[in-house]
Amino acid sequence: MPYAKITGSGGCLPPRIVSNDELAAELAGRGIETSDEWIVERTGIRQRHIAAPGVKTSELATEAARLAMQDAGVQAGDVDLIVLATSTPDYVFPSTACLVQANLGIKGGAAFDVQAVCSGFVYALATAEAMIRVGRARTALVIGAEVFSSILDWSDRSTCVLFGDGAGAVVLQASDEPGILAAQLNADGSQMKILCAAGNVSHGKVEGDPFLRMDGQAVFKLAVTSLARSARDVCAQGGVELSDLDWMIPHQANVRILNFLSRKLGVPDEKVVVTLDKHANTSAASVPLALDAARRDGRVRSGDLVLMQGVGGGFTWGSVLARM
Ligand code: ACO
Repeated sequence: MPYAKITGSGGCLPPRIVSNDELAAELAGRGIETSDEWIVERTGIRQRHIAAPGVKTSELATEAARLAMQDAGVQAGDVDLIVLATSTPDYVFPSTACLVQANLGIKGGAAFDVQAVCSGFVYALATAEAMIRVGRARTALVIGAEVFSSILDWSDRSTCVLFGDGAGAVVLQASDEPGILAAQLNADGSQMKILCAAGNVSHGKVEGDPFLRMDGQAVFKLAVTSLARSARDVCAQGGVELSDLDWMIPHQANVRILNFLSRKLGVPDEKVVVTLDKHANTSAASVPLALDAARRDGRVRSGDLVLMQGVGGGFTWGSVLARM
């Protein structure tokens, strides 16, 4: 049975950067009070990238995937699987994965979306790995992409300051050498209300609430406990100790969650990749964007042991342990 190994990565962020001060000034114009000081202290976020009106998730995803293919040295004809994680698809259907397939001139193979909100990338990576391991694919594009700004209520200061737009992608290929060592996915649908966008278009009208709603403190508590448990479980499954990890790349939701988590697990802060200050929370894109940033600046190197973790709406969470 072949292993599945990450052989390339890419990222795409929309060019418009909105600093906390700029966002605070914009919100003040609408009578909503916030500040750089509040946002940095409570979240660690300093800025976010926001897509121009009309920019779709598939456009960001296509560019991230193109860069990942270039990095891995694979051609359109090599790709026989696309798994794309998003909660902000371009359309109800076809899937955003199919749109990316067409944009890149990839023909044949499977292409589909997975929806696990901020856990989406680890869900997608574990799914693609399983398909490669059983021989259903040899070269997969695994993408996390979001235009989360499109589902934010810009009059709700407790959520609109937290998120940004972007896409990250990896190429995952069949390999004789170990790559993905273990994966673990979880969900608890009974917690759906603490983080949701509980609306849809039906009969041509918006039904329910199309905007993201969150009980921040409940999410905070559940995120820390579930990620800590999942990290221990996936390391045990992969036959490694937490102290063996070279890097942790948790979902970038809040720097206080990252600090709590690393302390709980006894992993030094220097081993935790943080991009949240620059990207904010990009949901399914946060882990592949952070991985790509750390690979490109030389922190994550070939042979490193990396733990990637997602947590988000559903409630969902999961981990993937990988030898790079
Ligand atoms: N600017 C200024 N004040 C604000 C803002 C803001 N942007 N947002 C909320 N406040 C106010 C509140 O109104 C409240 O005021 P009050 O005391 O007068 O009522 C006060 O700040 C404290 O609000 P809390 O919600 O208690 O603030 P908390 O310290 O819990 O921080 C936060 C909120 C940052 C959302 C925190 O709960 C958190 O980090 N939760 C984790 C959830 C998370 O990161 N979610 C991201 C998406 S989910 C995911 O990706 C897994």
